[in-house]
Amino acid sequence: MALYSEKVMDHFLHPRNLGMLEDANGVGEVGNAQCGDIMKMYLKIEDEVVQDVKFETFGCGSAIASSSMATELIKGKPLEEVEQLTNKAVAEALDGLPDYKMHCSVLAEEAIQAALEDYRKNNQ
Ligand code: FES
Repeated sequence: MALYSEKVMDHFLHPRNLGMLEDANGVGEVGNAQCGDIMKMYLKIEDEVVQDVKFETFGCGSAIASSSMATELIKGKPLEEVEQLTNKAVAEALDGLPDYKMHCSVLAEEAIQAALEDYRKNNQ
């Protein structure tokens, strides 16, 4: 069996929503101290809905695939749903990640939560 699912390879090779979002109103950046990878999420939130999202990831293929899939999962979704997104859901949507690569999906969850926190801080 291949180490990575077709979905992981697809999102790694053709990442969705890659880049920065000029008019983001919530930005979150997180890193993994062990591997040194960094992920940045940009959210454009209006009426408590994620209208647009982009990401920049300096990291491994699984981190790039996780960021890409995470953006697809939250685009157009209400914040109450986005808040519930777990790294497990991201990994499942990718048809799984090898155990030792699960931490890469954690970065996606954390980057989104950090961006939401940033949004809330600026829009109280
Ligand atoms: Fe660091 Fe994947 S090895 S996020």
